Amino acid sequence: MTDQTTVTEAQIAVHWQEEEKFHPHHSFIAQANMTDESIYTRFGLDNFPDCYREYADLLTWDKLWHTILDTSEAPTWTWFKGGMLNVSVNCVDRHLALHRNKAAFIWVPELEDEPLVTLTYQELYARVNEMAAVLRDECGVKSGDRVTIHMPMVPELPITMLACARLGAVHSVVFGGFSGHACGQRVSDSGSKVLVVMDAYYRNGGLIDHKEKADEAVKTAKEEGVNVEHVLVWQRYKDQYHSQTKMHSSRDHFVADLLTKHRSAIVPPVSMPAEAPLFLMYTSGTTGRPKGCQHSSGGYLSYAAGTSKFVQDIHPTDVYWCMADIGWITGHSYIVYGPLALAATSILYEGVPGYPDSGRPWRIAERLGVNIFHTAPTTIRMLRKAGPDEPLKYNIHFKHMTTVGEPIEPEVWRWYYFTVGKGKAAIVDTYWQTETGGFLCSTMPAIHPMKPGSAGPGMPGIHPIIFDDDGHEIPAGTPKAGNMCIRNPWPGAFQTIYGDRDRFVKTYYAKFNKDPKSKDWRDWPYFTGDAAVAASDGYYRILGRVDDVINVAGHRLGTKELESACLLVEEVAEAAVVPVNDEIKGKMPEIYLALKPGYKKSKAIEDKVVKSIEVSIGKIARPRHVWIVSDMPKTRSGKIMRRVLASLSNGRDVGDVTTLANPEVVEEIRQMVQGAK
Ligand code: WT7
Repeated sequence: MTDQTTVTEAQIAVHWQEEEKFHPHHSFIAQANMTDESIYTRFGLDNFPDCYREYADLLTWDKLWHTILDTSEAPTWTWFKGGMLNVSVNCVDRHLALHRNKAAFIWVPELEDEPLVTLTYQELYARVNEMAAVLRDECGVKSGDRVTIHMPMVPELPITMLACARLGAVHSVVFGGFSGHACGQRVSDSGSKVLVVMDAYYRNGGLIDHKEKADEAVKTAKEEGVNVEHVLVWQRYKDQYHSQTKMHSSRDHFVADLLTKHRSAIVPPVSMPAEAPLFLMYTSGTTGRPKGCQHSSGGYLSYAAGTSKFVQDIHPTDVYWCMADIGWITGHSYIVYGPLALAATSILYEGVPGYPDSGRPWRIAERLGVNIFHTAPTTIRMLRKAGPDEPLKYNIHFKHMTTVGEPIEPEVWRWYYFTVGKGKAAIVDTYWQTETGGFLCSTMPAIHPMKPGSAGPGMPGIHPIIFDDDGHEIPAGTPKAGNMCIRNPWPGAFQTIYGDRDRFVKTYYAKFNKDPKSKDWRDWPYFTGDAAVAASDGYYRILGRVDDVINVAGHRLGTKELESACLLVEEVAEAAVVPVNDEIKGKMPEIYLALKPGYKKSKAIEDKVVKSIEVSIGKIARPRHVWIVSDMPKTRSGKIMRRVLASLSNGRDVGDVTTLANPEVVEEIRQMVQGAK
């Protein structure tokens, strides 16, 4: 955190009980894609970067690359230089020969009595081509242009993404739950002239108006100087329009109408350099606005494909379900790009896991014969709490399961393993980030035993290192946490923060770099922003962020973004946001406010602040509690002591606060938050 007197999580010594390890079931090992331990030797540092040839070979190249890793622009890494490819060809066209009539996507609507939609690879091919024709011919989209996509979980979302990829255009998918304002900021940051949305979708049994957010997004983008020329609107129901907002005659178009002009269109795929950007994915950082993580075509796709093959153990015959949203990086890499590169069948689910009840995911898995299941601890916790015995009622047989996005408590892990996986599924706890494109740490499911609560060793070709704050290595087996870093580049790593290379270098590479002029990758360890400990067996346990980022239900929220939203409320003078532990969501934001002189604390002000957060960011950022205080605890230099507030919110002791400028307010706030002692 930003306060001067704070101890970062990285400095805290950790002592936790060593967990019992579980060995993968023999039936899993017998069929696994990767059982050869020597992969770790092949991907050792002395074979770096040539080892990644193995990942590049999973792709179909129009022109083969000549240089595996170019470091001349360090720390911008160019992988597979000289290579040319098209991502939609790799995900769709090349599978037609063997898998034309196999399901690429099976879409499950939230309403249980609505029919499923199955898209074969052939059908996907046809629809991607038609949408590419619409983007190219109706909106003038060409290679390098950015297209923002703000859509729910429907097949038209990956169709639109792949249509962009076919043209060499850069998509920027914004999570459907984000507000129109948040979408508009991303539209303007990326300079998108085209915004693709949907009229409505189901969530928790209700049909929600989504198009209204498009109007808000266009307005916000305009205020920031970016003019959206085309809003393309997919429809949840054919020939119906489920939005209160009107269609602006020259700007808004129903995709269905435009498609009629392009029936059976075939759009030649645009061959792109390996390093051409494929997409932007915005994520929250320590300060200011969300940053657009720019991912490459060849490097990213090879990494998504390789990790999907080896760690997700996807074969073309598997039925794979990643219950995440495509609007996050997990969905990009492990619902769309990785599975499709491997010709898998990938399930898309429109709704929330608990609708209409907590048996729903297991009914879907039973009906579709899902054998690989992938989700986040927050969902596992929720399903366990709401229906601890539900999985036993269904005929489900997973060979493999994933947990991703935040640390999982060992007892929750054991429920996942024994009750959901029936002790037969191999579990991988995959640790990675929006920035990293694919997994950084995980066990290799047929090779390593699983350890509840630990992500596992670095992936093949990923060489983690933990530094203390002075840049000294903390060796594995030391019970002390430090800053989680990766020694070497890898093909899935993002290329830059869109439009802000300085921030990219500063945030991720400057901290442990010794020579800013160096062109040698060894001098540029990547800093994840997480605190971690490495056990003597080389397994990493991720403890959480060392910066001002809150991981809510596996999604990142910047405290600064939340605080800015609070400050939009007239009465608010100061705002501080802190993470509180939550049984289901992992962490939730809690808000402290000091009011401007002359205003009295009221429920109405609290409500206004919550509303402002919903409008600026979205409902996912809703705080657990808003506390209005007479003054913020501050250091003598005037910095708000967020750590003191965080201790109060989490029921902890605040420790010694006598050096603060106003120690008496701490006791006042403590009584309010924790009740009188
Ligand atoms: C942050 C990244 C990874 C895709 C979804 C989230 C935390 C991620 C784990 C894990 C413990 C984890 C880290 C990381 N995190 N995976 N397996 N165990 N913590 O992507 O929104 O970019 O968030 O999530 O703190 O930095 P993201």
